[in-house]
Parts: sequence; C-alpha cells; structure tokens
Amino acid sequence: MKRIGFIGWRGMVGSVLMERMRAEGDFAHIAEPVFFTTSQQGQPAPDVGHGCQPLLDAHDLDALAQLDVILTCQGGDYTSAVFAPLRQRGWRGYWIDAASTLRLAPDSTIILDPVNREVIDRALDAGKREFIGGNCTVSLMLMAIGELLRRDLVEWISSMTYQAASGAGARHMRELLAQMGALHASVAASLADADSSILDLDRTVTATLRSAALPRDRFTVPLAGSLIPWIDKQLDNGQSREEWKGGVETNKILGRESQPIPVDGLCVRIGAMRCHSQGLTIKLKQDIPLDDITALLTGSNDWVRVIPNEREQTITDLSPAAVSGTLTVPVGRLRKLAMGPQYLAAFTVGDQLLWGAAEPLRRMLRLLLA
Ligand code: HSE
Repeated sequence: MKRIGFIGWRGMVGSVLMERMRAEGDFAHIAEPVFFTTSQQGQPAPDVGHGCQPLLDAHDLDALAQLDVILTCQGGDYTSAVFAPLRQRGWRGYWIDAASTLRLAPDSTIILDPVNREVIDRALDAGKREFIGGNCTVSLMLMAIGELLRRDLVEWISSMTYQAASGAGARHMRELLAQMGALHASVAASLADADSSILDLDRTVTATLRSAALPRDRFTVPLAGSLIPWIDKQLDNGQSREEWKGGVETNKILGRESQPIPVDGLCVRIGAMRCHSQGLTIKLKQDIPLDDITALLTGSNDWVRVIPNEREQTITDLSPAAVSGTLTVPVGRLRKLAMGPQYLAAFTVGDQLLWGAAEPLRRMLRLLLA
C-alpha cells in the first residue's frame, strides 16, 4: 500500500481529518501521499513530511487509477461522478469515503471499528474494497451504547436527537452565528439596561426571528433561538431521511441486516455548533441492573465515558460545550424509566466532525496501512 490519494481534504471534514492525521503521525506510515483538487490543479499541495508536490486534478481518472487507496471527503456528487467510471476501467484499490452515496451498496462496509471491527475484518478477508463512514448520529449513538446491541440485549431503540449546525455544513454554522448576532443586536441596547422590560425584549427578539432580515439562506428558517424538527429529505412514510438512516445504518454497521433491531425517533436540529446529542429510550430484552449496564458500556471502547446520573456532573460533562473538539463520547442520564425495568433512558453527546465523520475514516486508513 504505497500511493494514497486524498480528495476533499480542504473542506470542513477533510480539514478535521488532516488535523487528526498530523496529530497521530499518520503520514509517517504513508510512502506517497497524493493530494487532489477540483479547482486548484498545479498549486502546491500541503507538505505532510514528504516535500511539496503539485495538486492533481480530482477528476483525472488516469491519475486516480495509479492509487492504492483513495480517501475522499469531497461529498456525494464527487463519488457519483468518479467511483463507477474508475471501477469500470478496472481500478481495484480501496475506496474510503465520508459521503453517504455508497453506504448501503451491497459491497460497501460502514466503518466504525471500535464497534464493528469484526464486520470490517470479515469484509477485508472477503476482498471488499469500499469502506464508507456512517451517518454521524448513528456512529455517535453506537460509540456510546453499541455494546448493548452487540451483545444482543436490545429489543428496540427510540432516539430523539439534538443535532448541531455542522451536520448541515460549514456555511450553516456561519449562518447560525449570524442569526445569533442579529438576535443580540436587535436588543443590545435594552439588554444593557438591567431595568428594561423582559417582555419588551422578548417581543423584539421574536419579531427579529420572524423578520425577513434574519439571515436564513441556508437553513431557510430561524435556528438560533428556535429549532428545526426535520433533518434531510422527506420520505413517503412520514420519516425524515435522517430518521430512516438511524435504523438502516445501525443494523448494517452491526452486520445484522437479516435480523434488524428497530431504531426510530425524531431528528431535530438545534443551535449547537458541532456536537450532536441524543436522548435514547432503549427497550432491553431483559431487566439488566444499572451497574451491569454501566460496566458493559465503560469497558466497550476507549472513548466512551459513563457520566453518573447526578445533576452537577451531568450538566458539567454531558453537553456540547464540554465535548466539542474532543474524541470523548459521554453517556449519562442512565436510569430505568417508569414504563418498567426493561426500559432504559440514556443521553449521549459526541463531536459530529470527529467520531461522526473524520475519525472512522482515519482509522480505516491506518488499518489498511498496518
Ligand atoms: N446528516 C447529518 C446532519 C450529518 O445533518 O446532522 C452527517 O451524517
């Protein structure tokens, strides 16, 4: 495995990937990293310890066909344009992709190695060559509570999500901040006066939220000071596409498409920057004591952290503010619900750009380089 090609390395997920690869010294394991571009062909590629080469054209099939591995964060349109023609001309390298285009293709494996390493190993042994990052919400849920599913302890899961702006894209994150700024600006003067009427202040904020002047090109509606209870496209059965992915991808990651565990719920966009949170209701197959559940989850991977179900620790450690920019996946609010001892509540938070996007790709590349 010598020549590794990187496409979409300058976008948001790609930049997080590059940061992580530099931090982990991954480039020292790559004989020949090759950087591609869709717009700046010939300009200098980043120097990752191998000198500075010119950027190559990401649509040049001849150049792509020379690679042993292609890792792309360029997005679904790129995958649709390039992957099939490349295979059709006989390219047999490994394709690692952040986009959802190929995720559910029969030959693809969804990668989340702390949870499904056996599924990945089986795919490699079987000669599979497409390894695709999962939906961020699904990956983050499985990093937290995947062990319960792996041990076949779960009858079904309902996941209610609180998803960050980053899941929609970098421009959406900017728009969220612009909306926050506009809301603040509309009341800045009365906010400075501690005696101003809170109801007047609120009326002004609500008027600003509803005004055409609020920046909303991306989200089309207010997110700051509000929320959006729909993510991705509308399907015919009333689910959003994001909600549909929850069930389908969870079962594919775990390699249990033939005996799927129902996973469903409502996906909601909130005004967080890059951490997705989820409130889970888990119907267990049997009454398992909370201490056993805590032990199972704690031992399941190196990143999950069980937060005791106590107020102070929960509000301090189980939030986007605490988790943003880290690989830690806290899970807390673990308690049995009033519906009965088989009904478990959980709340988890994770960085959507790390375990939700870049990290599984980075680790898959390392696995191929080993
Ligand atoms: N679809 C997710 C979201 C992002 O919109 O938050 C990545 O899987």
